[in-house]
Amino acid sequence: MDIQVLSKDITKITVDALVVNLFEGIKKPSGATGAVDKALHGVISDLIESGEIEGKIKETTIIHTKEMIEPKRIIVVGLGKEEDFSLERIRQAAASSIKAAKKVKIKKMASIVHGIGTGGFDSSSASRCVVEGALLADYLTHDYKTDRKDLQQPIEEFWLVEQSEDKIESITTGVEKGKVLAQAANIARKAVNAPSNAMTPSHLADISSSLANESGFSCEILQQKELEELGMNAFLGVAKGSKEEPKLVIMKYEGNPESKEKTCLVGKGMTFDSGGISLKTAEGMETMKDDMGGAAAVIGAMSAIAKLKLKTNVLGIAALAENMPSGTAQKPGDIVHSFQGKTIEIMNTDAEGRLILADAVAYAQTLGITRIIDVATLTGSVVVALGHEASGYISNNDDFAEALDKASYDSGERCWRLPIYSEYKEYLKSDFADIKNIGGRPAGAITGGLFIGSFVENDLPWIHLDIAGTVWSTKELPYYAKGATGVGVRTLTHLAEYYSAQE
Ligand code: BES
Ligand code: ZN
Ligand code: ZN
Repeated sequence: MDIQVLSKDITKITVDALVVNLFEGIKKPSGATGAVDKALHGVISDLIESGEIEGKIKETTIIHTKEMIEPKRIIVVGLGKEEDFSLERIRQAAASSIKAAKKVKIKKMASIVHGIGTGGFDSSSASRCVVEGALLADYLTHDYKTDRKDLQQPIEEFWLVEQSEDKIESITTGVEKGKVLAQAANIARKAVNAPSNAMTPSHLADISSSLANESGFSCEILQQKELEELGMNAFLGVAKGSKEEPKLVIMKYEGNPESKEKTCLVGKGMTFDSGGISLKTAEGMETMKDDMGGAAAVIGAMSAIAKLKLKTNVLGIAALAENMPSGTAQKPGDIVHSFQGKTIEIMNTDAEGRLILADAVAYAQTLGITRIIDVATLTGSVVVALGHEASGYISNNDDFAEALDKASYDSGERCWRLPIYSEYKEYLKSDFADIKNIGGRPAGAITGGLFIGSFVENDLPWIHLDIAGTVWSTKELPYYAKGATGVGVRTLTHLAEYYSAQE
């Protein structure tokens, strides 16, 4: 999708469709929608009057203009109730308009920037969200379909049109940001949607390298032998059952060499999680190809951060492996010596994400970082707690948590903080080693996170973000198709942007 910003009279642009909007309950459209209505001799008002257009969020109505104006069609998209309006609704409205256009095979379309008129948002944020919604909705999941004749095609051209010249600059800034964010999220979605026979640790590591070259960050890949030399036995133990070699991808972006601050993003990259010897049940096991969603989020975010040239230092680490049962696999009861030094009793080989992350976060702390966030599809327990509506997180630092909340608001990717009462740590006590890798069913999302936290120095600000419930959507949502959501990419990028503005 080629995106451009234009300052022109909307009734005079040559496109297959022009998108205008309407808040729910408005009887007489004003602004751009009002201008189009007038040029169409009140067709929109008539449709409102007859109840065919209500302005509900996600509602779309296509009107043929019969050469009364230049655009061939008008798509009126609902914005919902004015009091419920938000940046997220801007994304949803833009996404709905794209889907409506694609259904009738439109190739070239234009849209006004939802939210900058009566919506009250600044033109940069509003246009960013229009572009995010448009690009996320335009993403196609048919990489592996060979019969392509009935498949939807992407929109070729998408113009954002605004009459007043003085808003063009900030709209253009927003569009650029939106493009980078959504494209990076789509890269992560593509990786997560890919099956595990294609998306192996080596392949995902290769993707990181090419993205590094394209986007402007450095990328080093630690191979099995180097991991052995470093003593990353918690990580290696997980990979032992698979023929696929583990990889630790180290990505560096130095956007502010003068600053001592360095944010570390660590992602769980289990390209397939069968559970290992503590084998999962067959039903639903195919979804475990999404267990590298945390790594995909980190890789995607690194690319966005570098492309946006944020003035902050970021270290990205992706721990990539496959968790399989075999004669060489790790077994329940095994004890491993972690990179940090603590011994871990493996009570359940399916609690593997925390094992690879324990070594990854411990290693990260040897690289001069000043805060760390790990992102992982860690527990089924977080899905029980929050469903698919929010990612769960825990943190040892209120300022860092607040920054994540801000980033989450900016991205529309909901995050919810869970408590870390000191009693929870008791759940992880082992009879035979320093710590065990499961804490039982109660508070499983918290104890899973706290296991990783026990490998983080006390005073280092840390967040553990569990995306097990949000990495995948089983239904079509306004801007997500069924499948991977790319969750985390946009939030992590906003988090880096927050520090970029501060440091
Ligand atoms: N990858 C899973 C968690 C998961 C569950 C991700 C659902 C996405 C959707 C993780 O490795 C796992 O198996 N966790 C176990 C931990 C348990 C053995 C303590 C779980 O949550 O059941
Ligand atoms: Zn598992
Ligand atoms: Zn897993």
